[in-house]
Amino acid sequence: MNTTERGSFSGKLGYILTVAGSAVGLGNIWRFPYLAAKYGGGIFLLVYIILAVTFGYTLVLAETALGRKTGKSAIAAFGDLNKKSKGMGFINAIIPIFIVPYYCVIGGWVLKYFSVYMTGGAMKAAEDTYFTGYVSNVSEPIVWTVVFIAASLLFVFLGVKGIEKASKFAMPILAVLSLIIAIYSVTRPGSLEGLKFYLIPNFNNFSFMTIVAALGQMFYSLSIAMGILFAYGSYMNKKIDMESSIKQIEIFDIGIAFIAGLMIIPAVFSFSGGDPAALNAGPGLMFVTLPKVFASMKLGGVIGGTFFVLVFFAALTSAISLMEASIAFFMDGFKLSRKASCAIMACITLVIAVPCSLGFGLWDGVTLLGMGILDFFDFMTNSILMPIAALLTCIFIAKVVGVKTIVEEVKCSGEFKREKLFTITITYLAPAFLLIILVSSILSAMGFIKM
Ligand code: TRP
Repeated sequence: MNTTERGSFSGKLGYILTVAGSAVGLGNIWRFPYLAAKYGGGIFLLVYIILAVTFGYTLVLAETALGRKTGKSAIAAFGDLNKKSKGMGFINAIIPIFIVPYYCVIGGWVLKYFSVYMTGGAMKAAEDTYFTGYVSNVSEPIVWTVVFIAASLLFVFLGVKGIEKASKFAMPILAVLSLIIAIYSVTRPGSLEGLKFYLIPNFNNFSFMTIVAALGQMFYSLSIAMGILFAYGSYMNKKIDMESSIKQIEIFDIGIAFIAGLMIIPAVFSFSGGDPAALNAGPGLMFVTLPKVFASMKLGGVIGGTFFVLVFFAALTSAISLMEASIAFFMDGFKLSRKASCAIMACITLVIAVPCSLGFGLWDGVTLLGMGILDFFDFMTNSILMPIAALLTCIFIAKVVGVKTIVEEVKCSGEFKREKLFTITITYLAPAFLLIILVSSILSAMGFIKM
């Protein structure tokens, strides 16, 4: 995107759809349900929603306003407002570089499942050991990951816009299909227990990790703390009502995650009787559970195939945005050409993605801070780096540019009903909360405290 295109979101709807399109991705469909299943069901859902509408909302607004005010991307925006703060932009910009690789591994799983459904493998995919058998292969998951990486890079390199148009069709269909699958799931025998587990908060299931995981998910799902919202903000017309657009994007994002949870969690109870091991399945949960749901449906093969191809679109558009953001880091930060930046990003992605994939098979004994390789990158980015970046953004706003600057930016295009809440959150609540969570998760990851 070049500067002449700035301000290219002329309408509110266009803005909302584009930002929501990039926010909705594997985070909502793959990541949210497995975290909710693992960290307490209803209590996780509750904590997540509270965090998203308070801290999440504040941070999304702050980043968007900074982007619109400066008309620049993250790296430039900080430096523009205060020369000494330039480094803060770098931290934001570096995060997507570490997300892309493992995102592509999951994208590769989605592609594989799509191919299995296309070749009539619906029954095979529903077998208990299918997923673990597949991921423990050495070469096949790597091949699919590489295909996914190549597809994303190609679009980034060629700067093809068509894919965004395709995703504008695909996303609403995905939302509707997910809703249908969710309704089917919750009406299976035995799923009522699962529905209760997912919807009714049970404080016995609460642990400190519930907050850490929900916070990380909030950053991930709303695409906070990685320069993305700065960029979108910089393209946002000064007339678009910021407060209400962001509210709608949040509703959309939370809504899709909620439906994905409904689709998967009750089905875990229906097909495995709520076995704690099944709830703790981790990153594989969607790939283990949904094929069982599809296998029990009449047109399961077709529905499964359609589902995975739509998820592929959602994942691809997110991967493209993430890659764009990573490449902007090399282009803006080091003045490299687009070609060189793409080449560097391809190498980094491969070097990290291959171990992430092998971590489920050949290298499944390898742990970093007690986590598998993919989980390690996921944890480092979402639970360590993003809270650091967000904390710095809060400090930057409160101490360097002043909350007023943001408030004025929001007000120039509409009302700011939650101005007081925003001011208190960004100045006191968010920094204090982020600091506590950050220190605790570092201490726990290093084994100093047990949570
Ligand atoms: N929010 C996306 C999802 O839910 C993932 C994501 C995080 C993302 N940061 C991003 C997508 C930046 C595009 C751009 O899957």
